Amino acid sequence: MKNALLGGLAAVGLLAALPATASAEELNMVCGAEQDWCELMARGFEEETGNEVLMVRKSTGETLAQVRAEASNPKIDVWWGGTGDPHLIAAFEGLTQDPGVDTSELLGWASNMHKISNGGTVGIYAGALGIAYNSEVLEERGLPAPACWKDLTNPAYAGEIQVANPNSSGTAYTELATFVQLFGEDEAYRLLTEIGKNVNQYTKSGSAPSKAAARGETTISIGFMHDMVKLAGSGFPLKIVAPCEGTGYEVGAVSVIKGAKHPELAKQFVEYALRPDVQSRSVEVKSFQVPSNSKASVAPESPDLASIKLIDYDFATYGERSTRERLLKRWNEEVKNASH
Ligand code: F6P
Repeated sequence: MKNALLGGLAAVGLLAALPATASAEELNMVCGAEQDWCELMARGFEEETGNEVLMVRKSTGETLAQVRAEASNPKIDVWWGGTGDPHLIAAFEGLTQDPGVDTSELLGWASNMHKISNGGTVGIYAGALGIAYNSEVLEERGLPAPACWKDLTNPAYAGEIQVANPNSSGTAYTELATFVQLFGEDEAYRLLTEIGKNVNQYTKSGSAPSKAAARGETTISIGFMHDMVKLAGSGFPLKIVAPCEGTGYEVGAVSVIKGAKHPELAKQFVEYALRPDVQSRSVEVKSFQVPSNSKASVAPESPDLASIKLIDYDFATYGERSTRERLLKRWNEEVKNASH
């Protein structure tokens, strides 16, 4: 019966349209980048391999929580995108597994993630943290343009700033870790508490504040510059600031979850995600992170990391469970309650 059916399909030329292998599988993927890039990655992999990708977009801290909660029975095969620190934490906790992929074409900051996690995660893109403001709203309200992190403590900005919550958002955790590295821990919390008095909302996702600033729903946002560039390029009156004190950056990562139900497919996906031609496709959805493969093309719109004053972000320390827990506990106690 099966043979008769296949013969019939071949006769009408439909066999070629079927997946390459008779045993097409489903890859369960959690994606930490923007929805459109997540879709592009999932559909691209499906088209190339004939397997189905079940994809959901989540913020980085949320995915870490899910990976921990499902440790004894993982539902996720591969976690692609999102800031690197939570990927590292998952790797250090033994919640990811080495897919055994070739990282020789990757830039140093990407293979570093692979090295410090003993293969538990690998870098896929990088991007710097910055400030954005809606120039029309700023002018309307007669507010000064911020140039430095410390400017954000100005009481004139009361209710004008939006940023994500570092418990859920990798972007906001990068900001918290950046402040600690730039200013020392006590001063960082003092500044974040002062800035908190000006914050109108702590969002779940890291790119939401800049989207709100683009629409004029908040005047100022903190987030990754590549997300701001995408919005400014779409015509929103968003100005982007590289803070004068210097800034931190993310190395976005991909990890295979330990005990994944489809480990071979997950490995195939990681190989796919590290390929230069695949990484170069990010411009199709105006995602302007710097790609990790040295042979991928960098969009002219991508913020030039070499010209931004970047701190020497300590991924090993800030990608460690105890550091994250301590910093978040203090943030929850001191900073969160200072907002309006
Ligand atoms: O929008 C894309 C992005 O900025 C990525 O570069 C980053 O890894 C991710 O969002 C972080 O998202 P979140 O802050 O919601 O965890």
